[in-house]
Amino acid sequence: MTIGIFMTAAQSEKTMEQIISLCKRRGFIFPSSQVYGGLQGAYDFGPMGVELKRNLQQTWWRDMVYARQDMYGLDSSILTHQKTMHYSGHKDTFCDLMVDCRACKSRMRADHLDPDNPVCENCGLDDLTEPRPFNLMFKTNLGPVEDDASTAYLRPETAQAIFLNFKYVLDTQSPKLPFGIAQTGKAFRNEITPRHFIFRVREFEQMEIEFFVKPESSDYWHSYWVKERLNWWHAQGLSGDNLKLDVQPESDLAHYAKATTDILYRFPHGFEELEGVANRTDYDLASHSKNQDTLSPHAKVKENKDSTSKLAVQDPESKSWYIPYVIEPSAGLDRGMLAILSEAYTEETLDNGSDRIVLKLPAHLSPIKAAVIPLAKNKPELVAIAQTIQRQLQANLQGIVRLENSGNIGKNYRRHDEIGTPVCITVDFDTIEETTSDPKLVNTVTLRDRDSLSQERIPIEALTEHLRKKYFFYHYEGNRTDQ
Ligand code: GAP
Repeated sequence: MTIGIFMTAAQSEKTMEQIISLCKRRGFIFPSSQVYGGLQGAYDFGPMGVELKRNLQQTWWRDMVYARQDMYGLDSSILTHQKTMHYSGHKDTFCDLMVDCRACKSRMRADHLDPDNPVCENCGLDDLTEPRPFNLMFKTNLGPVEDDASTAYLRPETAQAIFLNFKYVLDTQSPKLPFGIAQTGKAFRNEITPRHFIFRVREFEQMEIEFFVKPESSDYWHSYWVKERLNWWHAQGLSGDNLKLDVQPESDLAHYAKATTDILYRFPHGFEELEGVANRTDYDLASHSKNQDTLSPHAKVKENKDSTSKLAVQDPESKSWYIPYVIEPSAGLDRGMLAILSEAYTEETLDNGSDRIVLKLPAHLSPIKAAVIPLAKNKPELVAIAQTIQRQLQANLQGIVRLENSGNIGKNYRRHDEIGTPVCITVDFDTIEETTSDPKLVNTVTLRDRDSLSQERIPIEALTEHLRKKYFFYHYEGNRTDQ
């Protein structure tokens, strides 16, 4: 008998505590260095977390790089030259305003306080110092000597290395404008107050594109990328009600941006930035370029006496040199994961009165693609068939196919619901000729659908194709204008 769903809790009822508890219980995300009491603002991704994170990152890469003819990949070093951060402007301006509480000695971001009634976030008293800038970059030294000359930084955004490699990509791949360079990887910020689980942390991953365009077409491409990235998040299962756009006021713009539209998601703690899409103008390429003044007279950048490279392109008709503008869609992988977990987390009451927690993840993002469960663990024939099915599916599906051999089917269903496995496949007595009362069921297995709880009987030989079609057909068309 198939059990139905009686009631599903609303999105607004989900709390961060529920998501944190599930992540810990089921092996998604743990506080880093927990053995020593935890490391603030750093998290480790367990066996389920690493799969979800990689699936999201790989989907981004497939849709933004492989599916396009105008995109080139990059994997640059995290250690960054101090001059990069000097000329990018981060050394002087990549700061948050910080205040101290004189009473309890806590430190906090000034912009997180109520401007009309600024009180300490920790003790609630109003004995706060004047705001002062705090630079968010992590500094380190290269080699054994700790002096100014050996200073380097852990990159606070993956973007800068893309600008530095602009000419290298241009010279080796000969792309025509417009084209983009995409990179995913770690970024580090010494956040004053990391908070909201993996929403604001000190070590995180970004998925960034720098899309180089002719200056006069930059407004068009800015709108294009806002739409494109919003569509992509929809395709990852985030619903329209939980996503919205927010045009940043001029006073909030980063030092490099002419305009920025943020894509906000309704996290359990409220609507906040999931991705920013900025028009960075020619600020960065001009900052890192030699002869910048002759190439970009309007760029508001420091004079660069150190660069050895002219980061510019030549107009094929007029033959004059100019610096392209850059549109930058910059997404956080950790925040993306949190959004997807928040969207998928569901509490339901079933027809039979029992409750369940289920992660309704899109199948292409699920950490485990299918679980194969022999109904009785002490029946070697069932186990042998389950093993064969597991091997066959493992060879054909992208991701983990788990053989569950504990014999407790209810417990297995509960666990796989909570980690978002889209389908469980049960090998039972009807599968085997000697034990079934219905010959039609020989060599068939039961598929139990995670979301609807419906069950269907499928021949083993048709299983791979059936799963591919029903669960694992993911195709993102996007809004490509490049072919
Ligand atoms: N290159 C542009 C840039 O870095 P940003 O708005 O500072 O822009 C881009 O960061 C994205 O990186 C954000 O939308 C967010 O998803 C993610 N991000 C930024 N700081 C973060 C942090 N401390 N923890 C987690 N994710 C963060």
